[in-house]
Amino acid sequence: MSKLGGAFLRLFPERLILPAMSMSSRSFLPGLAVLCLTGALLGVPFSEVLARSQEPNLQAPAGAQGAGAKAPPVRSTRDFLGLGPAPDAAAAKWGEPLYKANCSACHGPTARGAQGPNLVRSVLVLHDEKGEEIAPVVKNGRASSGMPAFPQLSETEIYGIAEYIHLQIELAANRGLYSHSNTMTSGDAQKGKAYFEAHCATCHSVTGDLAGIAGKYPQPSAMLARLAWPSSRGAREATVTLASGEKMTGTLAHYDDFETSLKTAAGKVETWPTATVKVDIPDKLAGHRALLPKYSDDDLHNLTQYLLSLK
Ligand code: HEC
Ligand code: HEC
Repeated sequence: MSKLGGAFLRLFPERLILPAMSMSSRSFLPGLAVLCLTGALLGVPFSEVLARSQEPNLQAPAGAQGAGAKAPPVRSTRDFLGLGPAPDAAAAKWGEPLYKANCSACHGPTARGAQGPNLVRSVLVLHDEKGEEIAPVVKNGRASSGMPAFPQLSETEIYGIAEYIHLQIELAANRGLYSHSNTMTSGDAQKGKAYFEAHCATCHSVTGDLAGIAGKYPQPSAMLARLAWPSSRGAREATVTLASGEKMTGTLAHYDDFETSLKTAAGKVETWPTATVKVDIPDKLAGHRALLPKYSDDDLHNLTQYLLSLK
């Protein structure tokens, strides 16, 4: 039992508490399983847990299935680990290139994280069944924390991406692999310089706006995050066109599906129902958005080393 408990803890440390705490209808059963396990670890003989521990794939030591093991585990293992329905393998397959093009630069090729968080361990992702939790984050982004919005991705495309992420959780659970890759130590500054001259110099100069940038972001991870997606927390400029055709420009004080508020240069705040106006928010980061799908991991690490050399 302790071997099993240990393997479980290594795989899903946070799930020991979380499913038990959030007793939504979906996580109630996994939560119960986890409570049983916790009980069992404390020496309480739950026959349910003992019965499950007889299953061969739960007794196998972590990683024993071999790196090539892709067969989905039996349903009860999924229940036991508190995972949702098995990922849609076909969707994961066509979702993979979309994930690699749009997400892997920040979340890593197998979603285990780079400068963006590890999605395989994300509570939000673990609570997602078929994209319903992931889609709003992808559609809207999180402007204040470095997650870009992808308004161009369709619901279907996001579904494929979500299934690809779920498959990574599945594979991680099966193989017992949960290593954090240390991706920050590599990188070739000379190659980074060449990449910069080819792709960045149209907007930036290392003797102008980016002079001494290493002093501003001395940590490799901070530098990588900043160069990949330099969104700022500052107010967003916008132009609002009223039903009458009148246009007003200012900074957005509030903007959601229901209400839009604009603070004008004169300091006055105007508010309209969003449905009655047209809101244009210039995409300052269009250049960065266009580059995101083009970077390889090496490009990002080379660029990071190059910018870190600009002391
Ligand atoms: C430029 C880097 C970057 C790219 C590209 C990116 N992300 Fe993110 N993502 C982030 C960061 C940073 C966060 C953390 C935001 C926060 O803490 O609120 C995040 C958060 C998330 C979360 C929420 C995780 C949680 O536990 O709250 C999901 C889901 C997610 N990203 C999915 C995606 C998907 C899918 C794609 C591709 C379509 C993608 N991201 C592309 C940087 C990125
Ligand atoms: C089409 C123009 C454009 C291109 C191309 C572009 N950037 Fe940017 N970059 C911007 C803008 C605009 C900002 C400022 C965003 C803001 O302040 O809100 C920015 C901000 C940054 C910042 C943050 C600076 C700071 O002081 O925080 C870094 C670092 C950066 N870019 C690096 C790069 C690198 C490296 C490349 C090439 C791989 C690149 N950029 C390509 C337009 C561009």
